[in-house]
Amino acid sequence: MAKKKRKKAEKRQVVVRATTKKENKKDKEAYMKIGIQGLDELFKKGYGIPFGDSVLIEGGPGSGKTVFCLAAINGLCKQGKKCLYMSFEEPEERLISHMKNFNWDVDNYIQKGLLRISRFDALDISRSVEALLSAAKQELLIEVDPVLFPEDFKPDFVVMDSLTSIASAFSGQDSRFRIYMEQLFRYLEKNGITNFLIREVSTPSHIGSTFKEEGAAVSFLSDGIIVLYSVRYDDGGRGGAVEILKMRGVDFDKKTVEFKIVDKKGVFINPKKILKKEERDGFTLT
Ligand SMILES: Nc1ncnc2c1ncn2[C@@H]1O[C@H](COP(=O)(O)OP(=O)(O)O)[C@@H](O)[C@H]1O
Ligand SMILES: [Mg+2]
Repeated sequence: MAKKKRKKAEKRQVVVRATTKKENKKDKEAYMKIGIQGLDELFKKGYGIPFGDSVLIEGGPGSGKTVFCLAAINGLCKQGKKCLYMSFEEPEERLISHMKNFNWDVDNYIQKGLLRISRFDALDISRSVEALLSAAKQELLIEVDPVLFPEDFKPDFVVMDSLTSIASAFSGQDSRFRIYMEQLFRYLEKNGITNFLIREVSTPSHIGSTFKEEGAAVSFLSDGIIVLYSVRYDDGGRGGAVEILKMRGVDFDKKTVEFKIVDKKGVFINPKKILKKEERDGFTLT
């Protein structure tokens, strides 16, 4: 049974692709406006996320990484961009219901062919890397993309939720995970797909790190890092904060600002509400 499933998975992923360098290769003058209230204002005038870039969305558990990325999907679908949400954690229905909770027009996006939400098993990916390596051993010099992208949907924007789940399917096989990541980044770049890759970090000291924990070897491959924090205020209240940590070739405000998730309403970033690092008396970032 497992063998059959595996055969099927290999068949699905080992495809010889005739993808050429696409005409929509990076245009450094062109920036994507995500459409999350407040986020775009963190970029200096004329800047945004460069089209085709890979951005890590880092934060602790419950910091709002999934909701933030769903908000990005909402902002982009509204602009008519085609989006793919690849979930290795929550099932499709749950993600759709999150979007409905915020009154985002998810059914309409799906119906119009602007949005696809798909759930994947991270083990399928580690198996496809095995298949890739065994093909290489037999010197079948074919180009293999073990990245599990659907053949029939060509997105402008992709979310992967999360690299952490994928990394755990490779546990103890760091070099294989690295092969996968290199393939993934290559595929996204070749196809000019702007993407948010979620990475769960356990403590703020792991943010932007390269080799400190599992799956961390990806930081240097990415073009940008956006960090989400859980904030604990000394009066017992809780909230969120966001910071653009890195964005290659882009001028942006280097500050940590309020990030709020409001039921029925959506996600709000307040660029004026700054959590000053030097005055971290009244709050703690986790
Ligand atoms: N509909 C909602 N209304 C208000 N807050 C929400 C809603 N959905 C999620 N949240 C908040 O977002 C947090 C989890 O966000 P999520 O994006 O799933 O975190 P992560 O992916 O970083 O683990 C929850 O703990 C909750 O506080
Ligand atoms: Mg999540």
